[in-house]
Amino acid sequence: SLCGSLGGLDGGFGDGEGTPGGTEGGAAGQDKLERPGAIEDDAIHLKRRVGLISGVALIVGTMIGSGIFVSPSGLLERTGSIGMSFVIWMACGLLSLLGALSYAELGTMNTSSGAEYAYFMDAFGAPPAFLFSWASTLVLKPSQMAIICLSFGKYAVEAFVFECEPPEIVVKMVALLAMVVILYVNCYSVNLATSVQNVFTAAKLVAVLIVVLGGAYKMIEGNTQHLMQPFKNTKYSIGNIATAFYTGLWAYDGWNNLNYVTEEIKNPSRNLPRSIVIGIPLVTICYALINISYLTVMSPMEMMTSEAVAVTFGNRVLGVMAWLMPLSVTVSTFGSANGTLFAAGRLCFAASREGHLLDILSYVHIRRYTPSPGLIFHSLIAGAMVMYGTIDSLIDFFSFTAWMFYGGAMVALIVMRHTKPNYPRPYKVPIIIPYLVLVISVYLIIGPIVDKPTIQYLYATFFILGGMVFYIPFVHYKLRIPFMDGVTVFLQMLLEVAPTSTMLE
Ligand code: ARG
Repeated sequence: SLCGSLGGLDGGFGDGEGTPGGTEGGAAGQDKLERPGAIEDDAIHLKRRVGLISGVALIVGTMIGSGIFVSPSGLLERTGSIGMSFVIWMACGLLSLLGALSYAELGTMNTSSGAEYAYFMDAFGAPPAFLFSWASTLVLKPSQMAIICLSFGKYAVEAFVFECEPPEIVVKMVALLAMVVILYVNCYSVNLATSVQNVFTAAKLVAVLIVVLGGAYKMIEGNTQHLMQPFKNTKYSIGNIATAFYTGLWAYDGWNNLNYVTEEIKNPSRNLPRSIVIGIPLVTICYALINISYLTVMSPMEMMTSEAVAVTFGNRVLGVMAWLMPLSVTVSTFGSANGTLFAAGRLCFAASREGHLLDILSYVHIRRYTPSPGLIFHSLIAGAMVMYGTIDSLIDFFSFTAWMFYGGAMVALIVMRHTKPNYPRPYKVPIIIPYLVLVISVYLIIGPIVDKPTIQYLYATFFILGGMVFYIPFVHYKLRIPFMDGVTVFLQMLLEVAPTSTMLE
């Protein structure tokens, strides 16, 4: 029934869909409670309801979040020139497309949810898959959440101070507040979470449109002076370019998000690759236009020092309507954060299906069927990251870890071409592409370390490998700590959650 209730959670993830799928999935979950015999079947067959449009919406709605409204300053600072920034913005789009095409092969070959987790399981077996779920639950998903909420805070506060730096503590408090609200929404009901997601995705597109139209208007007025001499002051250091990529790739992150819902895509062998080929270039074009728009109203220098480029843009273009900008960005980031927490619940589910996580994290609320312990756990870690991190440091930390796994997925693809040559592959990517993405991920992982070897990268690596300390006794040998069971029972009563197996009896 966990599968059923999370099936509901899954079902609603297609941002573009008018009817929140949570209803169907959730109802199916309840249904199964009454018909325990049907579990296996239903667990495997989630409703296929994501078509081409919602597939594209799912990709675009996840990718466009905080990045394009926050990252341009950092990227410019790291590259030194607008020309080089632009090249990197476009290269990030291309890299995301190539990565996603490789994921299309993986996703059409292995159609179970959980993306990397499922592919690692197939290609390398349980330990690497465990390490992925370990790092994702503890670092990746919470840091995504923290970055987006911090951006939310920044814009929400920026709306009230005119082109000056908002006090950090206030930003952090607002970020935490947003996180609590999102946690509440996701614990309250799957339906509410998916409706929030749909509404907020639309708002995000409005924000993009405002910037692009405003920029076009300024361009027609002849404001092109900042676009001259694009490559002046370019910094050519290898590490600078790698960290600039980190900043840009954050804005494109989410290109693999459709792979988390493969179980529900209608005709996945056709729609998964197509959504990718439409969605990612679309985002790339939006980002290109937005970057040019920003430069029609501010100089590169102003862009670098602006705390929130989109707000500066709004103040200079929209006149009395300037408040529209911070508002649309807060709405957009709020939606992103909601979707990210939502996806985190799914990951908990994929890993706990294999007994790879703490039992309590796989439990669901006895009446609401939301995976609240997992969601609360993610939010606690994300909250700590909000308190102690900054957007830029978190993005570097996140990208380093994420690209290790994206690179790992490329290795999985290449390995399976040899170990499972006859497996059906409805979509087969030209093999040069995963090799290329792999080489770039290695560069992205090593570049920043060579350039500026900070201790954080070492910590991150140790942390990921450190997962083995838990894997061997608790997963491999299934060791149980007696007092842990007491803690589990206590938390169960406190949170009103239960393992889904007992809910059937
Ligand atoms: N690209 C998004 C942004 O610019 C972040 C997406 C986070 N990643 C994810 N898989 N939810 O804010």
